[in-house]
Amino acid sequence: MTRTLWLCLSVILGLGVLLAATDEAPDYPQYTGQNRLLPPQNYRDWIFLSSGLGMNYSAMAMGNDQFTNVFVPQWAYQAFLKSGKWPDKTMFVVEERGAQSKGSINKHGNFQTDLMGIGVEVKDESRFPEKWAYFNFDEDTKSSSANPKQACWQCHEDHAAVEHSFVQFYPTLKPVAKKFGTYKQSVEQVQP
Ligand code: HEC
Repeated sequence: MTRTLWLCLSVILGLGVLLAATDEAPDYPQYTGQNRLLPPQNYRDWIFLSSGLGMNYSAMAMGNDQFTNVFVPQWAYQAFLKSGKWPDKTMFVVEERGAQSKGSINKHGNFQTDLMGIGVEVKDESRFPEKWAYFNFDEDTKSSSANPKQACWQCHEDHAAVEHSFVQFYPTLKPVAKKFGTYKQSVEQVQP
């Protein structure tokens, strides 16, 4: 009797652990082969940091104005609120979407349309010598290898306000970083 009870208990416990693991896994970087990142699955459930409209900073050729939407996982966001720093294994997604003005009742301004692709940034100190690595995905990319340093890493290194993240453009994080003294004020200087 007690043996059956123990067996039932361990099965339930095992299932619980398994469920918890599969539940959390998408919020951490997942790789295949040699450092090839898998596309993050649930980033639309993460914390939304901000949007940009037609911001032009990327080395990638951008057509007309696009929206960018930036997301970070809940767990990393909570850690940032307590420290003003990003914990190891933090991921960010910047989602690019088309902008449209004419449609339905809209007269002025722009609304967001189709997904053009996503950029992903990970802080993974044991895996990448430069600590931060950058990837691109479109809708049917199965896995992606890190972009060369010049394509993404360097601009984030030189111009981002907190470590490699552009907190100068994320209004809810800016006061947090300032409070913890992790904000690089000099990046606010307008570039010629
Ligand atoms: C010339 C500078 C520059 C380059 C090059 C660049 N970025 Fe960024 N990146 C930015 C700026 C500015 C923002 C914040 C603005 C926004 O919300 O779009 C940003 C935001 C991001 C974010 C959101 C998190 C964060 O760091 O704030 C990700 C993810 C990202 N970039 C990925 C990439 C990838 C992938 C590449 C290379 C293909 C790249 N970036 C190249 C300037 C750059």
